[in-house]
Amino acid sequence: MTENVNWFPKHMKDSEDLLKKNLKAVNIVFEVLDARAPLSSKDMNIDRIIGQKAKIVILNKCDLSSDDGNKQWVSFFNKGDTETALVSAVTGDGLKNITNLARKVITKAGIKSKSIRVMVAGIPNVGKSTLINCMAGKKKARAANKPGVTRAKQWIDAKSQFELLDTPGILRPREDKETVLNLAFIGTINDDVLDVGTLASDLIEKLVGIVPEELCARFKIDINDKTPLEILETIAAKRGCLMKGGMVDYIRVSGIVLSEFRKGRLGKITLEYPAC
Ligand code: G4P
Repeated sequence: MTENVNWFPKHMKDSEDLLKKNLKAVNIVFEVLDARAPLSSKDMNIDRIIGQKAKIVILNKCDLSSDDGNKQWVSFFNKGDTETALVSAVTGDGLKNITNLARKVITKAGIKSKSIRVMVAGIPNVGKSTLINCMAGKKKARAANKPGVTRAKQWIDAKSQFELLDTPGILRPREDKETVLNLAFIGTINDDVLDVGTLASDLIEKLVGIVPEELCARFKIDINDKTPLEILETIAAKRGCLMKGGMVDYIRVSGIVLSEFRKGRLGKITLEYPAC
C-alpha cells in the first residue's frame, strides 16, 4: 500500500526549511501528536530540527482515544522528561493544562517574557490549526482535512498569553507497515490514494484484536470465526450496502467503517500503546 502514497517530497523540504528559519523567533515548540497513535503520528525528524529548543508534547484528539491509552502515553512521555498535555481541540479539554505546562517549561529554560512565542508543529491532520483556533478563541488559522497541504506561517495572538505560529505539516515517507496503516486509519493519508476495501478490512482486523466487543456492538454483528473480509461483508448486509443481485458494495461499506471509526462512533480507541 505504501507505494501508492505521495509523500510530498517538495513540501517536505520547504516545510523543514520554514521550521528551521522560524525556530529562532520562538520560545517553545508545541509538538502536536494524534493521541490515538502518538508514535505513528510523530515526525521522527522533529527533535533533530528543534534541537535544544524548549518543547511540550500535545496529545490532541484525546476525545477519540481510550482513557487507558491516554494515561499510558502521558506516563511514557513524562518518563522521557517531556511535559505532555492531553487535549481535545474540539471540546477544549486540557487547554488550561497547556498554559501551565508551557509556563513551567519556559521558566525552567530561564525565559521571563510575559508573552510566549510558540511554534505549533506536527504532521498534517493532527489538529494544529484547530488547536490554534481553540486557543485563540476565534476562527483564524486555516483548518482543512487535506493531508499534505502546506500553509504559510502565521502568527495568531491567543488572548495575549501566547503568540502561536502555525506551520505546515510534514508527512515523511514511512517504511513500517503498522505505522502506515495507523496513519491511514486516522485519515492522515488521503483515502483517494488507497484501496479503501483493503484499508477497511485491515482496520477491522485491528479492531478485532483490540476492541472486539465495541465492533460487535456498533454494527450489531457476530464476528466469531469470521475473517476481516467476512466481517466487512456482514456489516454491508446490516447497513444496506448491497447492490443488485446481492453483490457487496465494498466502497460504500468501507467508507462507513472508516468514517465511523474516525468519528469515534465505535468508542474511544487507541491504536498503539507504548512498549513496556
Ligand atoms: P492540521 O492543522 O494539523 O492539519 O489539522 P486540522 O486542525 O486541520 O484538523 C484536522 C481534522 O481533525 C479536522 O477535521 C478537525 O476538526 C479534526 N480535529 C482537530 N482536533 C481535534 C480533536 O481534538 N478532536 C477531534 N475529534 N477532532 C479534531 P475535519 O473533518 O477536516 O474538519 P471538521 O469538519 O471536523 O471541521
